[in-house]
Amino acid sequence: MKILLVGNGAREHIIAEKLAESPKCDELIVFASALNPAIENLASTYHVGDINDVQAVREFAEQNKPDFAIIGPENPIAAGVVDELEAAGVPCASPTKKLGQLESSKAFTRNLLDKYHIPGNPYFRTFESDEGMLEYAKSLGEFVVKADGLHGGKGVLVQGDHFKEAEEGVEAAKKFIESDGYVVIEEKFIGQEFSLMSFVDGEHVVDMPPIQDHKRAFVGDTGPNTGGMGSYNYAENLPFLTKQDLKEAHEITVKTAAALKEELGAPFKGIMYGGFIAVKGGVRLIEYNARFGDPEAMNALSLLETDFVDVCTATIDGTLDQLDIRFSKKAAVCKYVVPEGYPTNSRKGDKIEIGELPEGLRYYLASVDQREDGLYMLGSRAIAFVGIADNIDEAEQLAQKGVESVSGPVFYREDIGTAELIQSRIDMMKSLRE
Ligand code: GLY
Repeated sequence: MKILLVGNGAREHIIAEKLAESPKCDELIVFASALNPAIENLASTYHVGDINDVQAVREFAEQNKPDFAIIGPENPIAAGVVDELEAAGVPCASPTKKLGQLESSKAFTRNLLDKYHIPGNPYFRTFESDEGMLEYAKSLGEFVVKADGLHGGKGVLVQGDHFKEAEEGVEAAKKFIESDGYVVIEEKFIGQEFSLMSFVDGEHVVDMPPIQDHKRAFVGDTGPNTGGMGSYNYAENLPFLTKQDLKEAHEITVKTAAALKEELGAPFKGIMYGGFIAVKGGVRLIEYNARFGDPEAMNALSLLETDFVDVCTATIDGTLDQLDIRFSKKAAVCKYVVPEGYPTNSRKGDKIEIGELPEGLRYYLASVDQREDGLYMLGSRAIAFVGIADNIDEAEQLAQKGVESVSGPVFYREDIGTAELIQSRIDMMKSLRE
C-alpha cells in the first residue's frame, strides 16, 4: 500500500514509524509544513507545503495516488483536508470537517452531549454576547471560559489558574466572542485529568490505554500551559482511576460516537481522544479531540502490538470489531525536551546534541532542523524521549536518561512519571472520594 501522512511533529514521527514498520506499507508519502528529518528518512516522498491548504494536499494526493491517508494535527482536519481527499477518492482514517467539529467547536460538542443526554457534561451555556454572562459565570462558582474554535491550546481559561476574578474571565470571553462568534462558559471541575483515546470506525470503539499528560511547563504543574510536556501510562489502569472510571469514560465515547452519526448522518472515523477528568462523583468530559494526542501518541503507539496499517484500514472499513487490537502490558513514560523560554518566549536556532542513550530508549523528533553539523531547534517542543518498561519507575528512569543526555539551552520536566508526583495524584483523588 501507498499511505499518505499529513503532519510533521513527534506524533507524526511515531505514526510514520508505525506505518512504515508494517509489511503492508510499501510506500509512505508525507505532506508536511516543515522538514522533519526523521520522518523524511521513512518516506519515499516528502513534500513541504501548507498542510491547511486543502487544495494543495488534494493535488499532492492526486499526483501520488495513496491507498489511504491519516492526518496528524487538528488544523487540517478542521480545514477540511479529509473532505477533499475523500472527494479525490482517497479514504481517510481521520474525520471529515463536519465530524471534526467534535474538536473544532467546543459549543457543538457540549450541545451534542446535552441533546443526546450523554453523561459527563458540566453546567454550561454558550454566549453570543456578554449579556447575562457575569451573572451566569458567578452562579457556577469557579468557572472555565472556552473559545469555540481551535486556539492552539490557548483557548481555555480556567478560574484560579488563568484568571482570578469573574470579571477578568468575562473580559477574556468577550474577546473569544469577537474572534469565534461565541464562547462557552462552564463549571470548573476538580479532580485528576486523563486522556482516553479510542479508535473509532463509526460503529465500534476500541480504547487505548489511559494516559496522563502534563500541560504546565514547569515541575510541580506550575508555569504556562504548553502543548504537553510529557505523559505516562501504567501497564494496567492509571493508579488514581477505578475500573468504573474507565468504564464511564468508554461509555461516554460510545454514546458520543452514536450521537455524532445520528446528528450528522455520517460515521466518525478516526481517533476520538477524550480529555476526561475523574471527579468526586465519577467521570466528566473536559473536551474531545479528533486525532491522536501529542505526547499521548508516543505512549499508545509505542505499546500497540497490532499492525497499525490494519487498524487504519479497519477504521476506514468499519471493521474494528473484527480486529484483535492489542497493547503490550508495559508502562511508558514520554518526556519532551523543549527550548529555554518555551512556550512564551522560546529560543530558536540553537544547536542541540543527543548524548549516549540506554538501549531500548526511543526518541521522536518534533520542532528540529537537521543541518550538516547537527540538530537545531526551531522554537517549539524539540524531542520526545520514550522509556518503556515493565514498571513505571524503570520507564521513568529511561525517559529521564534521554532528556538528560541532551546538551544545549533546553529544559524538561524531571517530575513526569516519578513516584512522588503520581502519589500526589493518588492522594488527591483519595481525599476527593472520602
Ligand atoms: N495532549 C494535548 C493535545 O494533544 O492536545
